[in-house]
Amino acid sequence: MKTTTEKFGATPHQPSLWTRADALKVRADDPTTTQPLVSADFPVLNNDVFIWDTMPLRDLDGNVTSVDGWSVIFTLTADRHPNDPQYLDEDGNYDILRDWNDRHGRAKMYYWFSRTGKNWEFGGRVMAEGVSPTAREWAGTPILLNDRGEVDLYYTAVTPGATIVKVRGRVVTTEHGVSMVGFEKVKPLFEADGKMYQTEAQNAFWGFRDPWPFRDPKDGKLYMLFEGNVAGERGSHKVGEAEIGDVPPGYEDVGNSRFQTACVGIAVARDADGDDWEMLPPLLTAVGVNDQTERPHFVFQDGKYYLFTISHTFTYADGVTGPDGVYGFVADSLFGPYVPLNGSGLVLGNPSSQPFQTYSHYVMPNGLVTSFIDSVPTDETGTQIRVGGTEAPTVGMKIKGLQTFVVAEYDYGYIPPMLDVTLK
Ligand code: FRU
Repeated sequence: MKTTTEKFGATPHQPSLWTRADALKVRADDPTTTQPLVSADFPVLNNDVFIWDTMPLRDLDGNVTSVDGWSVIFTLTADRHPNDPQYLDEDGNYDILRDWNDRHGRAKMYYWFSRTGKNWEFGGRVMAEGVSPTAREWAGTPILLNDRGEVDLYYTAVTPGATIVKVRGRVVTTEHGVSMVGFEKVKPLFEADGKMYQTEAQNAFWGFRDPWPFRDPKDGKLYMLFEGNVAGERGSHKVGEAEIGDVPPGYEDVGNSRFQTACVGIAVARDADGDDWEMLPPLLTAVGVNDQTERPHFVFQDGKYYLFTISHTFTYADGVTGPDGVYGFVADSLFGPYVPLNGSGLVLGNPSSQPFQTYSHYVMPNGLVTSFIDSVPTDETGTQIRVGGTEAPTVGMKIKGLQTFVVAEYDYGYIPPMLDVTLK
């Protein structure tokens, strides 16, 4: 088998490091990197289902695309169970929080459409029951391939295992709405290899998911980002000088941070259609810093590569912390080196008074950031909450050089198209 070096004729890149020193710069509640408070009286997209990770239909260059004037989003979706005895508490009331927390086990891909880029109308399931090979249909990316309406949906087939897969179908429009047809044959693409990317055998809490294919604006080739953990047995990772970075005296102790080993993975397609992929070493690692860098994606702007990824407070390592939200890194070339935006990496975090208000942020090339509402406190102490499972207000953000700034807030789930494709 050819090595990466032979194939690319260059030294394989070194992953960039998000260091503990970088993470020490994270400041929650900085107004320029904090999502405005989400009000507890938010509207709910649909009372029959929870929705979370939102995936706008786009092209391979990252442009959010409408078809025949219809905007389309895909969402991870699960039924709500207000009447299921399994989700009633001792008093017979619906325990929505438990239902919400269980949603990942029954996640399915659904789609929605709209004429206005908001107020989404329910489309339905993308794949019929039984098409996807595993129990869970986890996040990925729908790509509009051409003006015949062909769509490649890349996603993660989870439990058993975690496999990056794709399924091809077609978007069809009428003057009344949108439907998804086809999506009948799921093609497995790749799984973690245990050499670059951690496997389930190496760590039962491994992460390997969230494909985001793209065409590199500079070399024109087809690549894919994904979430991973750095290969190796759980507990065997070293948090050394490089991972620690330049910390002040008193900050050298890394505690148990060897258990946090997130990375942003990258693969390159061997063919034009994206049916045959080769994994490359990670673009970015967060060993000793954080255990999850989820849903990685790019914005290509000003000749730079802006790499965004979502992460949680609970996945940070000992001695470092930050809000749930989206983090970012920037480089002049695809393979780096990447430096954290805003010094720390934090781009848009939840305010500390509402630490779980939103998650799964997706930064679009027009600077708009969509996310979903997780839960919002309904009293002063934060003991009472309202569960979301619906679209959050969209945030407007400016990306300038090595910095980002929150500059605007828009309606719930506002995801306007950047270009429209007229289907033939
Ligand atoms: C982010 C995420 C994704 C995963 C999905 C599972 O919210 O954790 O990484 O694909 O949710 O529900």
